[in-house]
Amino acid sequence: MPHVPERLSIFAACRLPDEVKADLRRECDIVFADEIAPAVPILTLLCTCTQPIVMITVQEPLDEAAIRELPASVRVIATYSVGHEHLDLEAARARGIAVFSLPDVLSEAVAEIGMFLLLGAARRATESIDLIRSRAWTGWTATQLNGVEIFRKHLGIFGMGRIGRALAARARGFDMTIHYSNRRRLALELEQGARYHADPKDMFGEVDALVLLAPSSEETRGFLNAERIGWLKRGAIVVNIARGSLVVDDDLIAALRSGHLFAAGLDVFAGEPSLDPRYFDLPNVFMLPHIGSSTIETRRRMAAALIDQLRTWLAGDEPSNRLV
Ligand code: DGY
Repeated sequence: MPHVPERLSIFAACRLPDEVKADLRRECDIVFADEIAPAVPILTLLCTCTQPIVMITVQEPLDEAAIRELPASVRVIATYSVGHEHLDLEAARARGIAVFSLPDVLSEAVAEIGMFLLLGAARRATESIDLIRSRAWTGWTATQLNGVEIFRKHLGIFGMGRIGRALAARARGFDMTIHYSNRRRLALELEQGARYHADPKDMFGEVDALVLLAPSSEETRGFLNAERIGWLKRGAIVVNIARGSLVVDDDLIAALRSGHLFAAGLDVFAGEPSLDPRYFDLPNVFMLPHIGSSTIETRRRMAAALIDQLRTWLAGDEPSNRLV
């Protein structure tokens, strides 16, 4: 195991909420990049850091070249995120750097946002908010802004990991029937009655709403394209709380314009923060700026979990969320 001192010594390249900074200060020796040199590019600062543990987020991507440049003192990269597509794991492995992520602690917060997007898309939240905030609302009518219910509908989850299961638990509160598609079927106690479809095509034809939850990878890039959208029933809803790369924007936008899809709820976008500008003009898109895990409870839980897993590793055990 690479040498890391007993008291965790961390260089935090990422910006963190004050509450989390205070938690981390209590537990370890930590330097926050935004406090020492906010104007200096992160990669430059990282090249001079002396701490063995580097903490980053998706905003501080480390590709092969960046990892090669890290000083010899760096033994651990800990990403304060569940996703890790911003890290070149092979490059870290080649340098003998251990890598940790946070797969567990975000699930509840992201599942809540999944429900929020599903409800917002179904109940025409964008148009409703626009109407009331524009001060143009002239009063209740039976024809105004009628959406669709999610009660007793069929929900399809593409990528039924921890977040998917947390989402399914919430959707059951709306009497939804849960379907899922994964590479492998889950154990019965994890399935909780959800219907497994080995082939996503079989699931798509049965559901009223589809939630994307698979990780971003070469395999899932562009997964939701025109052909697959065509497998969905007319009037279906699409929610994306995974990564923007899973969606072909041209195809999703065409289906939202044509009415094949009733609406979409989107928290993630290809090329964030420069999302496809056509989304702004679609009233049937309810969208959020990647806030899936943005709760103070989750942010604090993430820091606690990170420290916990690093200590576990230092004690010679293998934490489950070590990537490399
Ligand atoms: C995560 O943790 O992966 C969030 O989506 C932020 O990147």
